Amino acid sequence: MKGNLKLDASLAYKYLSEDELAKAREDAKEGLKTLLNKTGEGNDFLGWVDYPVTYDKEELSRIKKAASTITMNSDVLVVIGIGGSYLGAQATIDALTPYFEQKGLEVIFAGNSVSSTYLSQLRDYLWDKDFSLNVVSKSGTTTEPAIAFRVLFELLKKKYMKEELKEHVFLTTDRAKGALHEIGVKNDFEMFVVPDDMGGRYSVLSAVGLLPIACAGFDVDKMIKGAKDAMEDAKEENSEALEYAALRNALLRKEFNIEILESYEPSLSFLIEWWKQLYGESEGKGNKGIFPAGCIFTRDLHSMGQYIQEGRRNLFETVLDIRNPKTDLDVPFDKENLDGLNYLVGKNVNDVNSVALLATMKAHDEGGVPGIKLSIDEIDEYNLGYLFYFFEIACGISGYTLGVNPFNQPGVEAYKKNMFEMLGKPGYTKK
Ligand code: PA5
Repeated sequence: MKGNLKLDASLAYKYLSEDELAKAREDAKEGLKTLLNKTGEGNDFLGWVDYPVTYDKEELSRIKKAASTITMNSDVLVVIGIGGSYLGAQATIDALTPYFEQKGLEVIFAGNSVSSTYLSQLRDYLWDKDFSLNVVSKSGTTTEPAIAFRVLFELLKKKYMKEELKEHVFLTTDRAKGALHEIGVKNDFEMFVVPDDMGGRYSVLSAVGLLPIACAGFDVDKMIKGAKDAMEDAKEENSEALEYAALRNALLRKEFNIEILESYEPSLSFLIEWWKQLYGESEGKGNKGIFPAGCIFTRDLHSMGQYIQEGRRNLFETVLDIRNPKTDLDVPFDKENLDGLNYLVGKNVNDVNSVALLATMKAHDEGGVPGIKLSIDEIDEYNLGYLFYFFEIACGISGYTLGVNPFNQPGVEAYKKNMFEMLGKPGYTKK
């Protein structure tokens, strides 16, 4: 095993008989085989499987070059995209950026809602700043990012001369088609590729994620190395990825149909958002799936804790445990001890956080919530690359085990169709 991720399911196994577990493990192995042999549904969307090795090296150098151009000419990079086109980048940047600090230039995300307040206030914020845009859309036609691009491009055109624009607009889209691609060709903007055989939610380790991450000052090579190690580990007999996929399906078969991914580090909030999209969009179809939810603890123990402890018993939890936090802090001694906290002197705040994790898992176990713990050494580029790949391959295996195509998202079209009809988009008629 190359990575340091460990799965501990001692608080989940007791809900499963040996036969149930053995069957789910066998099914997950079949799922992995289907994935690696590319014989399952959606097999034209498996470009991400070998990507940590097959990625375009020339494009990676262009990504780094573009990142240094942007860093030199801008105070802010606005990443315009929705769903898989931004969640991985935001997850990484939030996880790696020290709280209340900025490592590289400021990276702001837009085009992931249709909030006029957000967009107009962002435009005001950018008014007197040097900024660049990275527009990310595989289809190149998604409405939310298209609106944001139109608004912010208009501002950009007011600030810079025509020939300067090329140094401020970078597009990540399909290699050959789509409205965004056309805009890129017409304006001669630098373009990066969302590979044909890679869906948005599996694309964080391509230019989709790597350009914004490099702009924020983080080491993308280390991320790719982490993903490569996860790729190799996942192919090992009885890997952690196989076990995670097997456990999820075994628990689902026992009616545990909600999974809560939990972290005790608030900076992982967007990693949870990324994971929710990955599993929700990959598995929620054909009236099947596990509903992916997320919590930040201990914060949400004071809001969702009651439900998790005593509500409907169809939940299981997967806890992300970080063995070595970036920094630590001693609980200071106070002579007066009015708050009664002196019993913690000699411990540090992370000891308290670790105990909170153990105590919560114990309480949830007593309350009938199966628990899986995924531990990694630390939050850094390597481990994030590893985690992204780990969750992606486990998701592919899990989706096949569940009996769905984990690589399409037909249901996402329903709201778009209604919206286009209501807005009178050409080609859509009101019913
Ligand atoms: O995972 C997916 O495929 C989706 O979430 C897409 O990333 C999202 O819908 C955005 O699509 P696009 O990149 O085409 O604008």
